[in-house]
Amino acid sequence: MKIAKFDVSDDAQIEAGRPAAAPGGPMPRHVAIIMDGNGRWATSHGLPRFEGHRRGVEAVRRTIAAAIEFGIEALTVFSFSSENWTRPEGEVDELMGLLKLFIRRDLQDLHTRNVRVRILGEGHPRDGEIQAMLREAEILTAGNTGLTLAVAFNYGSQNEIARAARALAREVAAGRLSPEEITPERLAGSLDTQGLPPLDLLIRTSGEQRLSNFLLWQAAYAELVFLPVLWPDFDRAWFEQALKEFAGRERRFGGLDAPGRS
Ligand code: IPE
Ligand code: IPE
Ligand code: MG
Repeated sequence: MKIAKFDVSDDAQIEAGRPAAAPGGPMPRHVAIIMDGNGRWATSHGLPRFEGHRRGVEAVRRTIAAAIEFGIEALTVFSFSSENWTRPEGEVDELMGLLKLFIRRDLQDLHTRNVRVRILGEGHPRDGEIQAMLREAEILTAGNTGLTLAVAFNYGSQNEIARAARALAREVAAGRLSPEEITPERLAGSLDTQGLPPLDLLIRTSGEQRLSNFLLWQAAYAELVFLPVLWPDFDRAWFEQALKEFAGRERRFGGLDAPGRS
C-alpha cells in the first residue's frame, strides 16, 4: 500500500503542492469518520437534539476544509445509517431537512473547491427530491480532481456487502462469471466504495468504541482512533490530533516490518 509521506520541513514536498500546515509523518490517503455525539452535545447544553445536528453540519464544513488543507485524498463521512430510521420520525425528518439544506447551500462551493462528491449507501427509499439532489451532487462534481468527499447516507456495511454479493451472484447466474473468479479484489470492486483509496484511518467521535455497521470490509487494516469529543465540537485541532496518532502507529499488515515507514 502506498502511504503518502509528509514532512513540513521538506521544501520539495511543499513545492509539489503539499500543504504547509499538515502535521508531519505518514499521512492517510483515506480518512473515514463516524460523526457521533450530536444528541449528547445538545443535551449537555440544554438544547434540543436538532441543535446538536445543526451544529454537527458546521463541524462537517470545518472538517472538509481541514481535509483539503491537509491534502487528504478521500474523506468518508457517516451521515445517516440504515439503522437510524428507527429513531423518532421527527428527528429523522430533521436530519433529512439538514441534508437537503447542506446540499443546497454547499454543493456549488464544494464544486468550486474541486471536491468530487460520492454517495455510499442506498439513498432515500421514498424521497425523490433527496435522490435527485444526491445524484446531481455526484454528476456535477464527477470530473473534479481534488478531495473526494464520500457521504454515507442510508448506509449499512452488512447491507453493502450483501448487495455486492448479490450483484456478483447475478453475474454467475447469467454465466458471465465463474464462482472461482469471486476474489476479495472483485468483491471490493462491487462495493459502494469501489475506486476510493484503501481506508487508512477511521475516526469515531463521542467516546463510543464500536463500528456501528460502518465500513466493516474496508476497515480490515485501517487504524482506529476514538476521540473523546462530541461531534459538534470537532475541529481542525482534533483532526490534527487523530492524524498525529495515525502517524505514530506502526502498520504491519500482517508482516513483520512496517511498510511506508522505512
Ligand atoms: C450522530 O449523533 C448523528 C447521527 C447518528 C445522525 P447522534 O444523534 O447519534 O448523537 P448521540 O449519540 O445521541 O449523542
Ligand atoms: C452511527 O452512530 C451512525 C452515524 C454517525 C451516522 P449511531 O449513534 O447511530 O450509533 P450507535 O447507535 O450508538 O451504535
Ligand atoms: Mg450516536
